Amino acid sequence: MTDLALARALHVLAVVLWIGGVGMVTTVLLPAIRRSYPAAERFTVFHALEERFARQARVTTALAGASGLYMLWQMDAWDRFASVAFWWMHAMVLTWAIFTLMLFVLEPLVLERLLARRAATAPEATYRLVERLHWALLTLSLITVAGAVAGSHGFDFFGW
Ligand code: HEM
Repeated sequence: MTDLALARALHVLAVVLWIGGVGMVTTVLLPAIRRSYPAAERFTVFHALEERFARQARVTTALAGASGLYMLWQMDAWDRFASVAFWWMHAMVLTWAIFTLMLFVLEPLVLERLLARRAATAPEATYRLVERLHWALLTLSLITVAGAVAGSHGFDFFGW
């Protein structure tokens, strides 16, 4: 029981740092760069500033995934994935999978180069795309956090 509680604490800590950072980037950093730099420079500035957060996010995403899997295994709760009532369990795995794919595969191997090339010819549209992508990821993450907290503390989403 103690290790389950510790895994939960680690899981929430990792999620707070990770999703909190996504919130900061989306609602503060991206708009500040838009206001302070001409379109042609925005993507380069954003990329330079965001790099450190991306490194942190790789660690916190891995921690959240490992602690989450440990809890699943300890609770033997795999059958939850067969029930729509546990949509928030699916949402956690989906959110984690999207970020993992972005941070470990797509961004370093494809997206970084693709966006830099696009930013050179269409800087305004590329920056808007980056902002929209962050808003979409933040929205999904916040729905997941709210669903996971309410769901894991007994809220019945289909019974009210
Ligand atoms: C592979 C990915 C993940 C797995 C396997 C996983 C698994 C779990 C498990 C088993 C629980 C405990 C549920 C319960 O007590 O009934 C939990 C809780 C939680 N998870 Fe995840 N999770 C993952 C990713 C995420 C992500 C991406 C987020 C946020 C965006 C998240 C946020 C939370 C929150 C907020 C709680 C509730 C903590 C509490 O209030 O006690 N998890 N997770």
